[in-house]
Amino acid sequence: MTLNKVKFHNDAMLMTLRREVYMVLVVGEPVVVYKGGLPGLTGTAELAVNATDLVHKYTTYLTRKQDELLDNFFKKSSSNSSSRPSYTKLYSYHHIVNGFAVELTAEEADLLAKDPGVVQVQKSYRVQKATVHTPYYLQLPQGIWAQEGGYLGAGENIVIGLVDTGIDPTHPSFSSMGQKPYGPLTSYHGKCEVAPEFPLGSCNGKIIGAQHFAAAASKDGVFNATLYFASPLDGDGHGSHTASTAAGNHGVPVIVNGVFYGNASGMAPRARIAVYKALYRLIGGFIPDVIAACDQAVADGVDILSLSLGPNSPPGGSISTFLNILDVALLNAVKASVLVVQAAGNGGPYDQTVTSFSPWIITVGAGVDDRSYPNTLTLGNTTVLPGTLLAPPTKGPFLYNLISANDAMQGQGNPLYTPSDCQLASLFNKLLVQGKLMICTYSFNFIFGGASMQQVVSTLEALGAAGLVMVVESDVAGSKFDPIPFTMPGIVIIDAMNSEVLLDYYSKLTTRDANGIAVQFGAQAKIGGGQIANYSGQAQQVALFSSRGPDIKDFNFNQADILKPNVLAPGYLIWGAWTPIGIDNPNYIGQRWAMISGTSMATPHVAGLAALLKEKYPLWSPAALASAMVTTADVQDSRGVPLQAQEVSGGSTPLLQNATPFDMGGGALNVNAALNPGIILDAGIQDYINFLCATSGITPRQVSASTGRLCPKTLGRSTDLNIPSITISNLQGTRVIPRTVKNISPKPETYTITWISPADVAVTVKPTSFTAGIGQLQLQQITFTLRATRASTATSFGLVTFTGHLGHSIRIPISILNKSLT
Ligand SMILES: *[C@@H]1O[C@H](CO)[C@@H](O)[C@H](O)[C@H]1NC(C)=O
Ligand SMILES: *[C@@H]1O[C@H](CO)[C@@H](O)[C@H](O)[C@H]1NC(C)=O
Ligand SMILES: *[C@@H]1O[C@H](CO)[C@@H](O)[C@H](O)[C@H]1NC(C)=O
Ligand SMILES: *[C@@H]1O[C@H](CO)[C@@H](O)[C@H](O)[C@H]1NC(C)=O
Ligand SMILES: *[C@@H]1O[C@H](CO)[C@@H](O)[C@H](O)[C@H]1NC(C)=O
Ligand SMILES: *[C@@H]1O[C@H](CO)[C@@H](O)[C@H](O)[C@H]1NC(C)=O
Repeated sequence: MTLNKVKFHNDAMLMTLRREVYMVLVVGEPVVVYKGGLPGLTGTAELAVNATDLVHKYTTYLTRKQDELLDNFFKKSSSNSSSRPSYTKLYSYHHIVNGFAVELTAEEADLLAKDPGVVQVQKSYRVQKATVHTPYYLQLPQGIWAQEGGYLGAGENIVIGLVDTGIDPTHPSFSSMGQKPYGPLTSYHGKCEVAPEFPLGSCNGKIIGAQHFAAAASKDGVFNATLYFASPLDGDGHGSHTASTAAGNHGVPVIVNGVFYGNASGMAPRARIAVYKALYRLIGGFIPDVIAACDQAVADGVDILSLSLGPNSPPGGSISTFLNILDVALLNAVKASVLVVQAAGNGGPYDQTVTSFSPWIITVGAGVDDRSYPNTLTLGNTTVLPGTLLAPPTKGPFLYNLISANDAMQGQGNPLYTPSDCQLASLFNKLLVQGKLMICTYSFNFIFGGASMQQVVSTLEALGAAGLVMVVESDVAGSKFDPIPFTMPGIVIIDAMNSEVLLDYYSKLTTRDANGIAVQFGAQAKIGGGQIANYSGQAQQVALFSSRGPDIKDFNFNQADILKPNVLAPGYLIWGAWTPIGIDNPNYIGQRWAMISGTSMATPHVAGLAALLKEKYPLWSPAALASAMVTTADVQDSRGVPLQAQEVSGGSTPLLQNATPFDMGGGALNVNAALNPGIILDAGIQDYINFLCATSGITPRQVSASTGRLCPKTLGRSTDLNIPSITISNLQGTRVIPRTVKNISPKPETYTITWISPADVAVTVKPTSFTAGIGQLQLQQITFTLRATRASTATSFGLVTFTGHLGHSIRIPISILNKSLT
């Protein structure tokens, strides 16, 4: 009794004394916001990232101020005030936020948050890692590559920074051999770390910078520098995959287990890759490392920042999602003219699952493209069942006898193994299985661990089976089975009904004795093989797992007047570079290529396209680049049928519904149209500040503290922000929405505006037609008036289309959540 009490007391004390990592924003402008005015740094305009001398002086100054604040704080709170207080600061952030990461107890964090020099304190949270075919699917070769002089120049001199799991510098997608030499690039000055496993020469011009950030991961106590590589080396595969999608070399053959699956190419094969490793194999990452990576990337001069990562759920804690420290940092990245692309998250198909929040970020959902790897099983009675698996066909034209795992058993069995999982050869009678197709079952053990397809191969090879026929249990049927490379003839019948057909056929032709033991096997089949891709030509669908809107403005899930996600790009079964040392995905251990899915895979498609756009329009703001991609995205297929979104169904194929802006943002990326949008909607830093000031729940003080900028005297409305979408979370009566478009084509063009009103809302537009001039006359104001005609909490959607007489066309989606008459 007494002992227990003492123990409990000790645990409680440990709890309050335990220090964890916190990020602290402090008062004072980060480098990209600095407006001059300090002694020794007077008279400077905003510091350009290339003015290294000034930047160095200023960051030294910021670090000193940060340390003074910390010293004073810990002196006050420590009993021993004579000596220098001890604390561990992991990072100083200077460029896009002024602050640091430090270890604090919960009590210290609360106290520090009250310090007048402190703007915000946020606890560290974890983040996770959230193509042969896609560039062609997106029509790059005919379009933008051709216009920019072919793939050999596509993305020239543009630097894409990827915050990810690092890179495999030996991968052919990143080789500079045989490429036009990459000269020096004065706009970029990132370092190249060297380590035994990441030797000198790993940065080869194509890979222009490579650094790693692990201070917060190390503090977690799980970091093992040998196992996770304390260097830019990719020990996972994910970072190499995303980098190859954005900017991998053109025409690199994808070969897995000796089978050629086509040639891979990045979206911008000539762009440079800057590696900022902040995610690690097995453990994922920690947000203080991610912010350090972004801070450094902006300091180094990247043009585009690609973030294929996100929290598993909204991090919570801060005042608003938009003032979350990561989002404040990314706002200042945008201030420094860096376009930020972020994965929407893989929490779909449920509402409010996007984990990328702010209007200054382009948030990417995952689409399913038109490629599939169909495989077939032909039964002895001529019925053909569809299935999948990247496996060769059975040899020869003939049929093979089928045997079910349960009918092939021998001996006592093994309590650790379910026979139908086919994980252990010794469970089976080799004489019975030899030369036959073995029927195994895809059970939950394959999804939650304990069973693997690799082990199935070992079992079947040891038994001398002719191949694998895998059926699914009906309760597993709803879960996804991705085609994976398989070295022997095989097929997975993913549909539960077809699995029933096969088992029925098998049982009809199997003779059993009085005890139910199978004695004669009459069922036969052959496998067609599933290594050849089939392109249906159909438009993208929103992937089931892709996170959906509406966007939230705080961590109480209050809805924002912002559309998320913003655009859809291919993110389902994407081939990309892999590292043979990757261990997280059992299907691709030892391989140089992997076909994987996620909004992580969609994000670098947009980053790569942005590089092509930036090359063509070097002076455009991040908002302008985003506008070009988002307003020209497709909302319907080539026959005018609305794009579809995958939703949950009972069976193995998802239900399809017309995709809404909360599923796909502006729609599916259309590369050629993005290159030539005609008109754009632009916005700059002050517009975002005004938006923050006008967002209910955020005070002007919070805005100025976080961003260093003051709110205007008259606050507008959050819906005034000049973004290429209209989203109103609560329409009370009438709302007037201004938008401004800018002609970026060399000729004046007359546009007509047409629209589809959302249900229960009347829309009027002024003017409905205008001529977008060039030069001074290029800006055109449009006023949308939206009036609720019926009270309703059902979200309704509309669409505005601008059609120019010279052929340009852009679209702005409307999403109205709650509606009331007054
Ligand atoms: C810094 O870059 C700006 C453009 O970004 C350029 O105008 C300026 O000349 C550069 N300054 C130096 C010292 O290179
Ligand atoms: C780190 O990982 C290596 C390789 O797996 C292992 O040999 C070593 O024991 C690990 N170190 C610690 C401290 O866990
Ligand atoms: C793949 O690229 C190679 C050059 O690297 C080329 O010879 C080959 O024809 C390409 N194959 C296909 C199917 O595109
Ligand atoms: C083959 O057998 C299955 C299972 O008994 C049955 O559903 C199917 O209709 C048969 N096919 C033909 C062509 O008879
Ligand atoms: C392959 O694609 C074509 C369209 O190109 C489609 O008609 C056919 O059904 C597809 N085949 C399979 C087995 O999916
Ligand atoms: C919808 O708006 C009405 C009127 O402003 C309000 O009373 C109600 O709480 C709102 N409902 C939701 C779900 O936001």
